[in-house]
Amino acid sequence: MKHKRRNIVLIGFMGSGKTTLGLKLSYLLRMPVEDTDKLIERQEGRSITQIFADDGESYFRELETELLRKCGEQKYERILSVGGGTPVNPVNRPLLHQCGTVVYLRVSPEVVYERLKNDTTRPLLQCEDPLTRIRELLEIRDKIYAECADIILDVDNRHSDELAEELQLQLRKQKDIQRKKER
Ligand code: S3P
Repeated sequence: MKHKRRNIVLIGFMGSGKTTLGLKLSYLLRMPVEDTDKLIERQEGRSITQIFADDGESYFRELETELLRKCGEQKYERILSVGGGTPVNPVNRPLLHQCGTVVYLRVSPEVVYERLKNDTTRPLLQCEDPLTRIRELLEIRDKIYAECADIILDVDNRHSDELAEELQLQLRKQKDIQRKKER
């Protein structure tokens, strides 16, 4: 059987480096890269912060699911970086798998905090004590991300160039395994 064309789906917490790694990988693999948050902002004509403020988180989550469905149905191959909360909704998990190979970028709360302490674009982290909030959310989400993933990459203290190369190797291995299964 011919090998199926598949997207590469990057999941992980806010600040785990999905966007940066997506761009590097896009260059290495000569594949287009897209970001679900950016697609939602473009579709809605307003920022994520504004969507949360106007219509609430649950409306944003509906948009995420709708978009993921569309991405899974589209035929072209790409790297898709998804918002940190996407795998949390159980409805989205099979949709992520339908999209392609799921890669989890695992990061520690301390690294996220350092990277995002001055960021104002993540509504969930605009609170008195963002580090505690990051710890609480990651405590819940790490298991979910890991269960969703075909490949897990630990990203703390590692340069995105090195990560992109490692991921390229892992994806090749994954493809070989997949090919053998499909024969
Ligand atoms: C969120 C992550 C954000 C964005 C929204 C909610 C989350 O995306 O979708 O602010 O629940 O973790 P990034 O992971 O790209 O920052």
